[in-house]
Amino acid sequence: MRKMRRKGLASMAVQTAETATNTTNPAVDLGPAAALSCRECGHKVPLGPVFACEECFGPLEIAYDFSAYDADELRKRIEAGPANIWRYAPLLPVPADVATKPNINPGWTKLVQADNLARELGVTGGLYVKDDSGNPTHSFKDRVVAQALEAARAFGFTTLSCSSTGNLAGAVGAAAARAGFRSCVFIPHDLEQGKVVMAAVYGGELVGIEGNYDDVNRFCSELIGDPAGEGWGFVNVNLRPYYAEGSKTLAYEICEQLGWRLPDQLVVPIASGSQLTKIDKGLKELIALGLVEDRPYKIFGAQAEGCSPVSTAYKAGHDVVRPQKPNTIAKSLAIGNPADGPYVLDIARRTGGAVEDVTDEQVVDAIKLLARTEGIFAETAGGVTVGVTKKLIENGVLDPSLTTVVLNTGDGLKTLDAVAGTGLTATIRPTLDSFREAGLV
Ligand SMILES: Cc1ncc(COP(=O)(O)O)c(C=O)c1O
Ligand SMILES: [Zn+2]
Repeated sequence: MRKMRRKGLASMAVQTAETATNTTNPAVDLGPAAALSCRECGHKVPLGPVFACEECFGPLEIAYDFSAYDADELRKRIEAGPANIWRYAPLLPVPADVATKPNINPGWTKLVQADNLARELGVTGGLYVKDDSGNPTHSFKDRVVAQALEAARAFGFTTLSCSSTGNLAGAVGAAAARAGFRSCVFIPHDLEQGKVVMAAVYGGELVGIEGNYDDVNRFCSELIGDPAGEGWGFVNVNLRPYYAEGSKTLAYEICEQLGWRLPDQLVVPIASGSQLTKIDKGLKELIALGLVEDRPYKIFGAQAEGCSPVSTAYKAGHDVVRPQKPNTIAKSLAIGNPADGPYVLDIARRTGGAVEDVTDEQVVDAIKLLARTEGIFAETAGGVTVGVTKKLIENGVLDPSLTTVVLNTGDGLKTLDAVAGTGLTATIRPTLDSFREAGLV
């Protein structure tokens, strides 16, 4: 398994601590972030705009020194903080003055107690929807971009970029606009109109690539290794270790909103798998810090059948994720070669969760189910998580007697085509007779 992971990374134009063309080890203070550590071999390098291990090409992630924290003091400090992700600044790789810099300040979104949906699905242990459509650009991507922006600032980049399935492009555009950065982002050319407009409206450059997300990502990896991309901060490539940490804030918020308590089960969408792995990291950190009681939790991954490389590997009992060519309406999750796929498999198996997928039809049904029961209009990724939750309950895999949190990571207004069949109940003349004739009384 390890060999395969390395091969995947080594085949990209990898920017390691040795090959980085930018200021590799600037003297920046990123709070408790102590170093970058290889997830495969544990090799450590100083903080910098690098993402792959110089020893084994494994992915780098942030290692922290939290030893100075006292649990009670930290909890009080967080609770007194702002109603956005910066309340968790002591646990993130950010400079001390982060709150004074222009940032779109995402987070602290609603944790909706979904009693109506719980009744429909037969959940008795408490069902919650973490509704991240409430972020500034209406997806969870604002969380990760906010981190990457601060890293870009610390490392002296002035252009922000990314490869995106849609939501990330919008989040980068907005964050760059507010912070005074140039942005140039890359997406598959055939995304939903809502995603394209959302990415373009902030005034940055938006480039459609003839190909799928995996082609876009490959192109960006090449651009990073080329002089044309010099000085660019690609939020999900050379700034990926910082970007990825933003997803931890979902785990922090869920636990804090539950009264500093771990949920028993979480259902999380998977595209690259980064979000799911960092939610697990965030939960482990809260336990290690003594902010929540150490109890078992299960993480379930959700994919669309038309792009289900991780769930296919999970069901086959494999450690390696075989790439697929995506074909699904859940375009935000359409990554056929997910970078964090093997780590997702590890987490699902370690925690006693699972990875499951649903058809496009089930995605649409689930979008309508969530809207009808809870008044939450999810994008297709939310249809995937709700649909998978339903399927896992029906199959006896998810325990309905346990506290369960389902993530909705994006807004239905960006994927209107998915529910295009819904519309007017009737068209009538402006008369009471006509209203009666329509059979609505
Ligand atoms: C709405 C939405 N949810 C979930 C994801 C999955 O993110 P990750 O790549 O971290 O698995 C994405 C990724 O683009 C997304 O746009
Ligand atoms: Zn390594």
